[in-house]
Amino acid sequence: MPTEIPSSPVIEVAGVTKTFAGVQALRDVDFTLQRGEIHALVGENGAGKSTLIKVLTGIHTPDAGRITRDGHISTIYQEVNLVPLMSVSANLFLGREPRNRFGLIDRARRDADAAELLRGYGITADVSSPLGTLAVGEQQMVALARAVAAEADVVIMDEPTSSLEPREVETLLGVVQKLHEEGIAIIYVSHRMDELYRICDTVTVLRDGVNVHSGPLKELPRIELVSLMLGRSVKEIENHGTTAFGEDHHADAEPVLEATGLTSKPRINGVSVAIRPGEVVGLAGLLGSGRTETAKAIIGALPIDGGTVLVAGTPVPRTVKAATRAGISMLAEDRKTEGIIPNLSVRENIVLAALPRLSRFGVTSRSKQDRIVDTFIKRLRIKVSSPEQKVAELSGGNQQKVLLARWLCTEPRILLLDEPTRGIDVGAKAEVQALIDELAREGLAVLLISSELDELLDGADRLVVLRDGSVAGELEGDQLTREHVLKAIAAEVTDDSDHASTH
Ligand SMILES: Nc1ncnc2c1ncn2[C@@H]1O[C@H](COP(=O)(O)OP(=O)(O)OP(=O)(O)O)[C@@H](O)[C@H]1O
Ligand SMILES: [Mg+2]
Repeated sequence: MPTEIPSSPVIEVAGVTKTFAGVQALRDVDFTLQRGEIHALVGENGAGKSTLIKVLTGIHTPDAGRITRDGHISTIYQEVNLVPLMSVSANLFLGREPRNRFGLIDRARRDADAAELLRGYGITADVSSPLGTLAVGEQQMVALARAVAAEADVVIMDEPTSSLEPREVETLLGVVQKLHEEGIAIIYVSHRMDELYRICDTVTVLRDGVNVHSGPLKELPRIELVSLMLGRSVKEIENHGTTAFGEDHHADAEPVLEATGLTSKPRINGVSVAIRPGEVVGLAGLLGSGRTETAKAIIGALPIDGGTVLVAGTPVPRTVKAATRAGISMLAEDRKTEGIIPNLSVRENIVLAALPRLSRFGVTSRSKQDRIVDTFIKRLRIKVSSPEQKVAELSGGNQQKVLLARWLCTEPRILLLDEPTRGIDVGAKAEVQALIDELAREGLAVLLISSELDELLDGADRLVVLRDGSVAGELEGDQLTREHVLKAIAAEVTDDSDHASTH
C-alpha cells in the first residue's frame, strides 16, 4: 500500500467484474481516482483498460461490483465518438448550445465561440464544415476540447495521442497540464512510456483484467512497470531487449528497391532511397518532412511529377496494383480509414490482401487460410477468442495487429511500414520489431517510418533523414545515435565529417 495523503476519491471502484461472451475482461477490480491526480491506466492490448473506462462511464454494466462517482465525468474514447456529419461547432457544443433570447440555438455565437476555443488547440479549420472532413488527429482534439469545455471534474482519456502527430501531442500534454492545475482529476491511458512519466502521478496496471498494481508512478522504474504489465521478470525483459542487430548477411546484394528522384510537388522533391534484401531502412524526419509521401510515391498511391521506382532492376508502373504485383506492400498510417472491416471476422480481415494469392482458379483453400491465420495470431500474440471472432470486438491494439498481419501474409519482397507499432503495447511492440527483424533476415526489404526515434534506432540498419521533402542525410553504423539523428533532422550543416553527410 502506498503511503497516503488524506484521501478524497472522485471515483471508487470495488470488486468490478465484466465478462463478454467467453472473455473475462475485468476480474474483481478495485480502483480509486483521487481528486486532482493524473492517474495512468496501463496494460497490454486487451488487458481491460477500455472496458474499465466504459464501466466507469456507464456504457457497460458490470456483472458484479460497486462504482461510486462524485462529480461530472467527461470522456475521450479510443475511437472518436463524435458525429462526423455534423459541423465541428455543433459537435463541440452538443447539448450545451448557446441560445438567443427566443431559446433558439445561436449559430453565429456558437461558431465564433467554437473557433476561438479551438484556436487554443492549434486548430484553425472552418468550424462550420462537417467534423468528418478534419484529420483524425484534429477530430481527437475537438473531442478533447469538448470534454474540457464541459467543465468536468474528471476527464478520462483513452489513448488520446495514438492518432496525433508529435506537435499535436505537445499541445495535448499542455492541455492536460492545464486541467491538472485547475484541479481536475484525469485518467490517462497510453502505451507511450515517455508521456506517462512526464505527466502522471499514479499508475494502475491491469493484466488480463486484474489490477496487479496501483501506486505512485515516478518512483517506479520503467522496467518494473513493463515487468508488471507483461507479467515477466525484470531479468527476462532485460535479456529479451538485447536482440543482436547488425549481422548483415545481405551487405553486398543488389538493392531490390531503387527509388530515384521521387518528386511530387510541393511535398517531396527528388527523394532517393535504395533497399537491399534483408535490410531495414528507416525514414526519419519531422512532421511534414515527406516520410509518408515518400512511401506512398513508392507504392504508386501518390502521383509523381518525376522519378522512377525499380524492383529488382525492373521499372514498376506507377499504380498500386502494379506495385503490389511487383511485390511491394504498405501498411498505411491511417488505419481507421484504410483498414479494418469491423463486421468481418479476424480471419477474413487477415487474409483479405492475400486472397488473390491463396486462391487457385477462384477457389480459396480454407485449410491454407486457417494455417496462415493461426500462425499470425500466434506470432503477433493477437488476443482473440477464436479466428472467427468479429474484429470489432477486439481491443484497439489487437485490431492494429490484425492489419499488420494482413500485409505480412501477402509475403511481399518489399514492405513499407508507416508507424507500424502505433497503439500497440510494449510487449507486442517488441514482438512486432522482432518479427520485422526476422522477416528481414529471411530476405525482406523493409522501409520503416516511425516518429519514435528509439524505434528507428533499434530497428533500422540505416537511416535516411528527410527534411522539407528532400534527403538531408544518411546515417549508418556508429552514426546511428540519438544525437546524430536529431542533428540531421533539425540540421544545421556542420563541417564535422563524422556527422550526417549533407547533400
Ligand atoms: N464488445 C465486446 N465484445 C466481446 N469482447 C470484448 C468487447 N469489448 C472488449 N472485449 C474483450 O475484452 C478484452 C479487453 O478489451 P479492452 O478493449 O478493454 O482492452 P484494452 O486494455 O483497452 O486494450 P488496447 O490497449 O488494445 O486498447 C479483450 O479481450 C477484448 O477482446
Ligand atoms: Mg483500449
